Amino acid sequence: MGLHEDSLEFGICPSVSGFGPKPLLFGIWYLEFDPWSLEFGYFCSPLWRTGKEIVVSGIRSTGFLHLGNYFGAIRNYIRMQEDFNCYFFVADWHSLTTHPDPKDLRGNVFRVLAENIASGLDPEKVALYAQSDVPEIAELYLLLNMLAYKGELEKVPTFKDKVRLQPQNVNAGLLTYPVLMSADILIHRAVKVPVGKDQEQHLEMARNFAQRFNGRYGELFPEPVAFNFGDNLIRIPSLDGNGKMSKSENEMATLYLADTDDMIRKKVMKAKTDSGPAEEGAPMPETIANLFLLMQQVSSPDVTDKFKKDYEDRSIRYGDMKKQLAEDMVNFIAPIREKAKELQQDQTYLNRIMKTGAEKARASAAQTLQAARKLIGIEYYG
Ligand code: TRP
Repeated sequence: MGLHEDSLEFGICPSVSGFGPKPLLFGIWYLEFDPWSLEFGYFCSPLWRTGKEIVVSGIRSTGFLHLGNYFGAIRNYIRMQEDFNCYFFVADWHSLTTHPDPKDLRGNVFRVLAENIASGLDPEKVALYAQSDVPEIAELYLLLNMLAYKGELEKVPTFKDKVRLQPQNVNAGLLTYPVLMSADILIHRAVKVPVGKDQEQHLEMARNFAQRFNGRYGELFPEPVAFNFGDNLIRIPSLDGNGKMSKSENEMATLYLADTDDMIRKKVMKAKTDSGPAEEGAPMPETIANLFLLMQQVSSPDVTDKFKKDYEDRSIRYGDMKKQLAEDMVNFIAPIREKAKELQQDQTYLNRIMKTGAEKARASAAQTLQAARKLIGIEYYG
């Protein structure tokens, strides 16, 4: 059996393998062959490692979550938490590339955590943590940097964009962003990474670094692939008809999970439409198709069908449709917003979640790092 497979199944703990007294750790202990020391020894199987495939994803800590994030990323996470061994973290180190105000950073991290939990992410099922609480990631990042070449990093499109957009701050962290992201993933030997299209190139680099490491030092890392449940990924359109909802573009065209009821109504009522359905058989204009798409996500099927029918027989009034959509949107967003608010006020709870998540992540990370050091030859006292 290859190392990847058995690390998926059992979570080998090289640090506590071998004979002799064992520290008391949670999990199931059993006698197994240790591929590192080539002898039999005791291993532990932490309880959250149940033979499920490992999924890792990083959540940006900047900006408020919006409906596009909800239907794009978070809903995927929620589905995955049932069937996979998930590590989801707030990428606070990554956010430092743009030097955020220290006063804002902490609040941003807690807000994004609260919003994710309010949306349905279950900290009992997944390891939810802050990247900076897992120092093993930083060490693996250092090791991987030795396998990452300046030339290839400079060619990454996201880096080139940043150079264009912020020429005054082209720091080494920005250049090595894909290396840190690879460390985030490889530290848990993850095989699946739920990310959007814009992150595909970074993922390809993670595969390259994994291959290079394995080739030079010995098999350790599986090659991670993007994962999104295929066509279930819905692209939520912006309310002004310009592309998809996004954090940075037109705020009035983006519905945030933190928007007040009145703000939601105002934004939906301002959504772009036209004067009414064109002649029979003409294709539906994009702005109207967008409204129907939004309606399908948050309204009942009866309601959506009624407006579809009205559209078809050209009796539809977009004002009425938007009023209905606004109310259904309020009913959809308000409970998430309120729950997130409540969670943000419960610092004790959020601290506990983050600490527990970090413990789970560090247990997994320590195993990988120990194995990586050993393969590289950094092993002086064993
Ligand atoms: N770069 C990702 C983004 O901008 C966030 C991220 C950081 C990430 N580390 C990751 C995503 C590891 C997946 C896996 O959205």
